[in-house]
This record gives sequence, C-alpha cells and structure tokens, in this order.
Amino acid sequence: MDQRFRTDLKAAIRSIPDYPKPGIIFRDITTLLGDPRAFRRSVDELVHPFAGGRVDKVAGIEARGFIIGGAVAHQLSAGFVPIRKKGKLPHETVRIAYSLEYGVDEMEIHSDAFGQDASVILVDDLIATGGTAIAATQLLLQMGAKIVAACFIIDLPDLGGAQKLRDLGVEVRSLVSFE
Ligand code: PRP
Ligand code: ADE
Repeated sequence: MDQRFRTDLKAAIRSIPDYPKPGIIFRDITTLLGDPRAFRRSVDELVHPFAGGRVDKVAGIEARGFIIGGAVAHQLSAGFVPIRKKGKLPHETVRIAYSLEYGVDEMEIHSDAFGQDASVILVDDLIATGGTAIAATQLLLQMGAKIVAACFIIDLPDLGGAQKLRDLGVEVRSLVSFE
C-alpha cells in the first residue's frame, strides 16, 4: 500500500480522547466508513493478499468487524460467520470469556459454523490488547478451522495484541498503526 494512501486512511479515522473512559483515545472508524473512497480502498487492501487463494469463510467480530468482514467476504466470494457478544445467536454455540482494553465480556459462535479444516480469515476493525482477537482465534481453533490470517484496519502496537497473536502462530495484517 502506498504511503500517501496510508496517510489518507489515518486522516479518515477520527480520534476521540477519553472515550469510553478517561485515558483511552478511541479510534472511530465511522468517519472512514462514511468516506466512499477510503472505505472501498480499505476493503480492497485487506482482500488483496488473498485474491485467488482459498478462503471458505470470513469470521467477523461484533460489531465493527461485521461491517468490514461482510465487505471482505463479499469481495472474496467467501461465506460470512458472525462472532457475537453472548446471548445473541439463536442456535447451539461455543462460548469464551475475554478481557478488553476497557472491560470484560463473553463472545460466542455457532457450533456448526464451519466444516472441519475450513480456511478462515478473522476480521475486525482494530486490534489493541488482542484480548478479543485471541479469544476469537481460540474459538475458531476449537472448532477445527484453519486460520489463514487475522486482518484489521487499525493496530495499536503499544498495546501488544498483534504481537501476541503472531506469537500464537497467526499471520496478522493491518493497514495503519496508531502509536
Ligand atoms: C473493539 C474493537 C475490537 C476490540 C479490540 O470492540 O472493535 O473488537 O475492541 O480490543 P482488544 O484488542 O483490546 O480486545 P468493542 O469491544 O469495543 O466492541 P464493539 O465493536 O461492539 O463496539
Ligand atoms: N477497542 C479497544 N481499544 C480501542 C480504541 N482505542 N479505539 C477503538 N476501539 C478500541
């Protein structure tokens, strides 16, 4: 990705200090999503490494991962699987607890979402501490999925999540970093 687009992409993301808690700088992608060029190019860049390869499913993490992951799945002609906050999925699920930069939560996935050895890309808007993505990775591995990569628009490298995910052997891709 060229440096000019990376700069444009960062400029399209709004930063909100002290949200949702004092000391957190919230990286708000709604401004990027509302910018047709930035949204399309972001999805194109996320999809590019996988075009022509085998991806059976894209697993998107609620809520912002649904928006990005849905677009990525469409472009790769892959299926989409939602990973949701607890209590939202109607059929039998596998559930896991995890911690966030600003709290704790539980997520779940339908237990019949993948066949054994399905090739899956995990997608979310942002990786911070990695608590969310690591829990999602554990769910996918527990279900026998093969994780091709985990993809994010934003990495917050100072919080170490991307490195932790790499240490688990997952290929991690992101478009921009905020130090
Ligand atoms: C945000 C973001 C990621 C997660 C990253 O979601 O969309 O899913 O935090 O943080 P981590 O790497 O420290 O786990 P959030 O939990 O705020 O939920 P939302 O998308 O439903 O607002
Ligand atoms: N999720 C975890 N940390 C975040 C941040 N700083 N901005 C937006 N989403 C987040």
